[in-house]
Amino acid sequence: MGDGKCCVSVIERHASVRRFRGDPVPDEDLRVILEAARRAPSGWNLQPYTIVVVRDAERRREIADAVGGQEHVAEAPVFLVFMVDLAKISDAAAKLGFEARPTLAALVEALVDVGIASAWAALAAESLGYGVVYVALYENPCGVADIVSAGKGTLPVVGLAVGRPAEEPRPRRRQSLDALAHIDAYRGARGDAVLEVYGDRARRLFTYLYGPGGYYGEASLNLLHCLRRQGLAEALEEPPEAQS
Ligand SMILES: Cc1cc2nc3c(=O)[nH]c(=O)nc-3n(C[C@H](O)[C@H](O)[C@H](O)COP(=O)(O)O)c2cc1C
Repeated sequence: MGDGKCCVSVIERHASVRRFRGDPVPDEDLRVILEAARRAPSGWNLQPYTIVVVRDAERRREIADAVGGQEHVAEAPVFLVFMVDLAKISDAAAKLGFEARPTLAALVEALVDVGIASAWAALAAESLGYGVVYVALYENPCGVADIVSAGKGTLPVVGLAVGRPAEEPRPRRRQSLDALAHIDAYRGARGDAVLEVYGDRARRLFTYLYGPGGYYGEASLNLLHCLRRQGLAEALEEPPEAQS
């Protein structure tokens, strides 16, 4: 059990957990986790995101199926859905008589914000002794949006399964610090460093991700379709001011 202390030792011990015990996450712990996300920095402090806390087992089952049968989503007692929420921003703008239309920069900023907020929540959860695993929702964002009733202007991006761990995985390999951090200027692509991490899986991984009909192609189609459906595809077009 964690002592709630964050972060360096928690980060050093991090390993994604994909088997969970059934114990519920008490409200007071959930609150600490959500507060961590709430305190996260945000570009312009706009905070263009929303978290849907999914405790309901049926909904977690549906989300697990929507993201390719990931059982840990159904097994963990809590699943946090982190969504870009530009509807919140256009609603705020409309209240002041402005129109805030989706743009690429606003979308990228919101995606970065979601990444940071979710990471802070993950660290808070791990510091309380919970196991967590990120789940990519961008492969079927509209499938997940339907399950949590998220309409236009929103885009589920990543989820975080949270629960008491039923396994103790060892920290997994990472690229070397030297390949990760280049001092003062970029020193060139270090494919060797990441290949070392991928190990024997490298060929299978590239075929799965980048091969014909591979994961990224499929996920990109779903993502594009979902951006259109959620009224966010405009963000991929040149903004009107650039056209004049
Ligand atoms: C953006 C993002 C998406 C991820 N999506 C999934 C996922 O859909 N399913 C899963 O089991 N793990 C997922 N992961 C977890 C990664 O597979 C994991 O972090 C990585 O393999 C390194 O392992 P570690 O976290 O144990 O160090 C995701 C992680 C991130 C950051």
